[in-house]
Amino acid sequence: MTTAPALLPPSARVYVAGHRGLVGSALTRYLTAEGHEVITRTRAELDLRDPEATAAFLRDARPDVLVLAAAKVGGIMANSTWPVDFLEDNLRVQLSVLAGAHAADVDRLLFLGSSCIYPKHAEQPIREDALLTGPLEPTNEPYALAKIAGISHVRSYRHQYGRRWISAMPTNLYGPGDNFDPETSHVLPGLLRRFHDAVAGGSEEVVLWGSGTPRREFLHSDDMARACTALLRAYDEPDPVNVGCGEDIAIAELAALVAEVTGFGGRIVWDTSRPDGTPRKLLDVGRLRKLGFEPAVALADGVRDTYRWWLEHKDS
Ligand SMILES: NC(=O)c1ccc[n+]([C@@H]2O[C@H](COP(=O)([O-])OP(=O)(O)OC[C@H]3O[C@@H](n4cnc5c(N)ncnc54)[C@H](OP(=O)(O)O)[C@@H]3O)[C@@H](O)[C@H]2O)c1
Repeated sequence: MTTAPALLPPSARVYVAGHRGLVGSALTRYLTAEGHEVITRTRAELDLRDPEATAAFLRDARPDVLVLAAAKVGGIMANSTWPVDFLEDNLRVQLSVLAGAHAADVDRLLFLGSSCIYPKHAEQPIREDALLTGPLEPTNEPYALAKIAGISHVRSYRHQYGRRWISAMPTNLYGPGDNFDPETSHVLPGLLRRFHDAVAGGSEEVVLWGSGTPRREFLHSDDMARACTALLRAYDEPDPVNVGCGEDIAIAELAALVAEVTGFGGRIVWDTSRPDGTPRKLLDVGRLRKLGFEPAVALADGVRDTYRWWLEHKDS
């Protein structure tokens, strides 16, 4: 009887697409520490929207495993300002990477989607089977639709060609290497930046949007890297897998934590004329837990370590 090859053999050469990003950099560190050879290309060396260049690179590099952590990523403001870029760049990267990986006979691939693929009013905690059961949040619909196309693309390669390709849907991620740009950052680095600037400018007050009551889930990028590796080692099914910590926190509590970490002693004012967004967003992580994954980084430690990283790198 022949047995299928291991899903992630210790000798596997892994191409991490997007290795300078938040997830890609954490994954590159983790896989390297686990003894894998990690192949990387910067965007200047290879624009993944270019199908010919991507196919040629993959044909030459011949990775055993590919993790697609390259994408156009941003917060609400960036998504609503550049919806065409969020739709087109992500579709183009996905098309050229998946087609190129198939042509280069890459048998194992992990595609990263996002929790925003789920309907705006999905039942909480959100299970993977909530996909395509209702309307999306309008502000990031183009990005979400590109990611949904990616999930279907991965499933289709599995179905038509027997590829052992999988998809993961991460919750909000944060960590060293995060984007602190005030226009394009996600909520956590955005808060760190706001409070840091308030301390540096001697402000007595920080005004934040909404009521502070919405609840969100956050996972450190080092835990994300461990989760990706656990999936590559053990998961081989068409359905996506949620990746999160299984716990959420009110934005007001998060703001208090960020104030403490940055040393802000002033007032936090909630501008309730601004929208709150979805009241709660928490992923059901039962499927991931069954693979034995548990997050290791507590939120308070992770926020401190992310802030420390930014202080060391903000001028470079
Ligand atoms: N961050 C989150 O909270 C979060 C949450 C859920 C899901 N995700 C998903 O996780 C994945 C990784 O996200 P991330 O936060 O690590 O993103 P990130 O920090 O913005 O990194 C994305 C990486 O992709 C590269 N890239 C983008 N377009 C490219 C292109 N055309 N050619 C080559 N490289 C390109 C970027 O290169 P440059 O550095 O040169 O720009 C960057 O290194 C994405 O699929 C994202 O949707 C992220």
